[in-house]
Amino acid sequence: MARFLAGAPGLRLEDHPEVYPPSDDTFLILEAIRRPKGSVLEVGTGSGIIAAACARTAEWVVATDQNPHAVRLARQNIARNGLEAEVVAADLFDGISGRFDMVVFNPPYLPTSPEDVTGDRWLDLSVNGGPDGLGPARRFLAGVEAHLSPGGRALTLVSSLSAGRLRAPGGLSLRPVGSRKLPFETLTVLEARRVGGRPTGGRAP
Ligand SMILES: C[S@@+](CC[C@H](N)C(=O)[O-])C[C@H]1O[C@@H](n2cnc3c(N)ncnc32)[C@H](O)[C@@H]1O
Repeated sequence: MARFLAGAPGLRLEDHPEVYPPSDDTFLILEAIRRPKGSVLEVGTGSGIIAAACARTAEWVVATDQNPHAVRLARQNIARNGLEAEVVAADLFDGISGRFDMVVFNPPYLPTSPEDVTGDRWLDLSVNGGPDGLGPARRFLAGVEAHLSPGGRALTLVSSLSAGRLRAPGGLSLRPVGSRKLPFETLTVLEARRVGGRPTGGRAP
């Protein structure tokens, strides 16, 4: 059954047992996004809530997820709100060309040992951050520069539960732009921008 969610004013969203439900991390990222203009790429869209919120003000929104249930649900949720975004099944940015004014990824961030990963639950993909919890965010930052427009920004999130620290890859600067203390962890939104604001490769849209 469709329901309204606090933190996503005015959006009607359905959930699915195999798809990550909007949570504290989702809402913290939404606060940092504000009202985007121009083009947005969301990696790992889950229910589609962030892509839908962006589609209300942005000109062009593309979203990806590796989980086929999430791709289907996000398409439905975006359409049921009368919004438009292209949702594709992809690993991170695979098959995505062009540069975007904003690129967002609320990544899986829980430290996970190989024996915890059964591989038979799509939801594992939402939480499994690898041994130090930072694997997916690190891969995201390593590839995001090729998808950022010259003045663009990328947003991702880390948890105090992670067993390491994210470093900005060469060519990007990284700074915290939002934080929330929860009972068992502190979540921090990180913003990456290209140093000097000049493209270093990739294709223009
Ligand atoms: C923590 S959930 C966030 C979902 C949604 N964006 C939100 O904020 O509520 C992470 C999402 O990323 C997806 N994901 C994980 N690894 C991915 C990858 N390599 N490429 C694309 N999507 C991925 C998962 O399937 C999941 O939907």
